[in-house]
Amino acid sequence: ARRVRVQHLARAKREGRRLTMLTAYDALTAPILESAGVDMLLVGDSLGNVVLGHGSTLPVTLEDMERATGAVARSTSRVLVVADMPFGTYEASPEQAFASAVRLMRAGAHAVKLEGGAPRAAAVRLLTDGGIPVVGHLGYTPQSENAIGGPRLRGRGDQAQPMLDDARALEEAGAVAVVLEMVPADVAAQVTRALSVPTIGIGAGPDTDGQVLVWADMAGMTAWTPSFVRRFGELGEDLRRAASSYVRAVSEGAFPAEENFHRH
Ligand code: KIV
Ligand code: NA
Repeated sequence: ARRVRVQHLARAKREGRRLTMLTAYDALTAPILESAGVDMLLVGDSLGNVVLGHGSTLPVTLEDMERATGAVARSTSRVLVVADMPFGTYEASPEQAFASAVRLMRAGAHAVKLEGGAPRAAAVRLLTDGGIPVVGHLGYTPQSENAIGGPRLRGRGDQAQPMLDDARALEEAGAVAVVLEMVPADVAAQVTRALSVPTIGIGAGPDTDGQVLVWADMAGMTAWTPSFVRRFGELGEDLRRAASSYVRAVSEGAFPAEENFHRH
């Protein structure tokens, strides 16, 4: 199948086709998710929480993201690979953002994602002009959790208009899509109507142009999932069961069996 490209995103929106995105962090799982027909894989800085055991996304480095992006890009052929720009690698200036984004593109990304609205517009413009497609991210932005005060619904009440302004600023600067995280559904719908590029929601209701989930949440790999997630599988339990069968079989001397080795 043909590669999904950024040009397909706005077209999908015009044609009313819902876009699908999942996170991916490695070459073990990315090809499986791609074969399921997902449009985009996001090498999210949720890598910090999901894979590296950090309590937030803040410790994630550009090196972490380069390694994960390379693994996802090398193991897939059709999906659009979007790489998160980690905390501290783009906020200081558009030039800093450009240098960091170049490293992710060289690692194999087809687009980068960064958090924030109007204050990031100059960086989005510089990257876009340099041939680097940018996905925006509004609403709850985990890299700012210390300023925001933890995960919470954003864009409520009189914060809806500033969010609309931020979304428009990103689009005007050239953003090819905007992720909306933990936004009231009616505000997400409003932002979606205001933009010609697609919105991709997580905890933002049914009226965005696409949806994104952390694959480990979606597949039931984690003990706990937020209310905006549906567990479409129970892979964690499946894996535990497989490992426990292995432990039992080895303990009982049932593995390896005749078919698993050569006597001579
Ligand atoms: O890092 C991530 O997984 C994300 C998605 C939740 C949008 O940014
Ligand atoms: Na992220």
